[in-house]
Amino acid sequence: MNPIVETLRQRIAGRSIDPEALPPETVSELLEAARLTPSCYNKQPWRFLVLQSKEAREKGVKTLSSGNQPWASRAPLLIFAYARAADDCQIPDGREYFQFDLGMAVMNLMLAATARGLVARPMAGFDPAAVKNAFGLEEADQVLAGIAVGRPSQDESHLPAHFQGLDKKPRERKPVEAMAKVL
Ligand SMILES: Cc1cc2nc3c(=O)[nH]c(=O)nc-3n(C[C@H](O)[C@H](O)[C@H](O)COP(=O)(O)O)c2cc1C
Repeated sequence: MNPIVETLRQRIAGRSIDPEALPPETVSELLEAARLTPSCYNKQPWRFLVLQSKEAREKGVKTLSSGNQPWASRAPLLIFAYARAADDCQIPDGREYFQFDLGMAVMNLMLAATARGLVARPMAGFDPAAVKNAFGLEEADQVLAGIAVGRPSQDESHLPAHFQGLDKKPRERKPVEAMAKVL
């Protein structure tokens, strides 16, 4: 099996996360994976807020939805991914790619995390204005994803009951025929 596809098979957006801190070289490796992402006209529009200190993480967790806070607050690493339209490749017909590029960078980061045996759960459940306010981002910055990262925890007793067992369920995906026209 292609090792990347194998890693993609292993990746789950887990909620059961061990609070133990990650080594700095692991965090650097995840950011390097994001840095290597391709982008339209090589504009590299992705930006990341990397929250590691207890104080920064606590500030970040307050911006999350009430559904995300109980599990994401355990993560030793909380990342917000953002980008601004001014960094788009600005194709003349008006198509925009900065969000697309940012999404690919987030995926590369999550894939690198999986290959290290970590969980990385992406989140849209946060208040972008609160993130911008808490961390001094600019008005033009579009905060598109939070990512909670850490080692997987086998003990799920810290999770609210309705989340327990979900990390072990088989993933749900439509069949290839529903997504690809092969001509
Ligand atoms: C853009 C995006 C936003 C998401 N937002 C949340 C979220 O706020 N909270 C959450 O628990 N999961 C969130 N998820 C995780 C998805 O629910 C999860 O990826 C999906 O159910 C498929 O499961 P899998 O990643 O384990 O295969 C998000 C995923 C993506 C890509």
